[in-house]
Amino acid sequence: MFPYFKESSSVDAVNSRIAPDVDARIREVMTSLVTHLHAFVKDVQLTPQEWDVAIDYLTRTGQICTTERQEFILLSDTLGVSMLVDAINNRRPPGATENTVLGPFHVSGAPSREMGACISLDGKGESCLFEGTVIDLQGNPVAAACLDVWSDNAEGFYDVQQPDIQPKWNNRGVFTTGADGKYRFVGIKPVSYPIPHDGPVGKLLAALGRGPHRPAHMHFIVKADGFQNLITHTFVGDDTYIKRDAVFGVKETLVAPYERNDDGETLWRSQFDFVMTRV
Ligand code: BEZ
Ligand code: FE
Repeated sequence: MFPYFKESSSVDAVNSRIAPDVDARIREVMTSLVTHLHAFVKDVQLTPQEWDVAIDYLTRTGQICTTERQEFILLSDTLGVSMLVDAINNRRPPGATENTVLGPFHVSGAPSREMGACISLDGKGESCLFEGTVIDLQGNPVAAACLDVWSDNAEGFYDVQQPDIQPKWNNRGVFTTGADGKYRFVGIKPVSYPIPHDGPVGKLLAALGRGPHRPAHMHFIVKADGFQNLITHTFVGDDTYIKRDAVFGVKETLVAPYERNDDGETLWRSQFDFVMTRV
């Protein structure tokens, strides 16, 4: 029987129109999307006024996007979707370092620096030594692993957010391990900061009684031949926002020690080993 559109058969009415020869994955994804979307509309008994608000919200989300600002990704981040997609696609064995969100502030092409070099170019903040070893699941050092690192400055901004204030490549660098797998560089102890919240995402967070802050973290991308790319952060455990990260990026295993350093060279020291998973 032809599925005329009725409240009770709405999903069937829409999904039965998908042509027989469409790509199997598009069919699977769209069939599920329509099923869940209709279930949601029925669940909350959506009113026309509410649907108008939603359409207007999505319109404004698109309108604020530029080449520098991607409000849809921020929306996905703050709804936990980015972390869920990341979790599903980066399941790793126990003991392997976990992934977390990339975020919008990674910039490809950061300068390669000598092991031990300082990445903080603006002279602000509390100095911190970052060191550890890149190892495999058996504890063997990984040679020629490339660590691309970046953090905010002492005022909570990435260099790309303040191109006229911060030196280019401030708090960024690329380091390559030798045969011992060890890495070592000096940066600053990162500080917590709010994600951009002057647009629709900020409005939604406020409407939900949520804040825009991320707990302090250092970003790392670790790549080595024969291993899965690792996109992660290390978090400062005693940060006020550790349990209310606006983008749900905190994982227990990524809370790293940030301790006072008594060697006199830097104020802080953070030791963290990256455990890589083979492809
Ligand atoms: C970040 O850590 O840089 C970040 C991640 C997600 C959204 C905004 C910022
Ligand atoms: Fe960040």
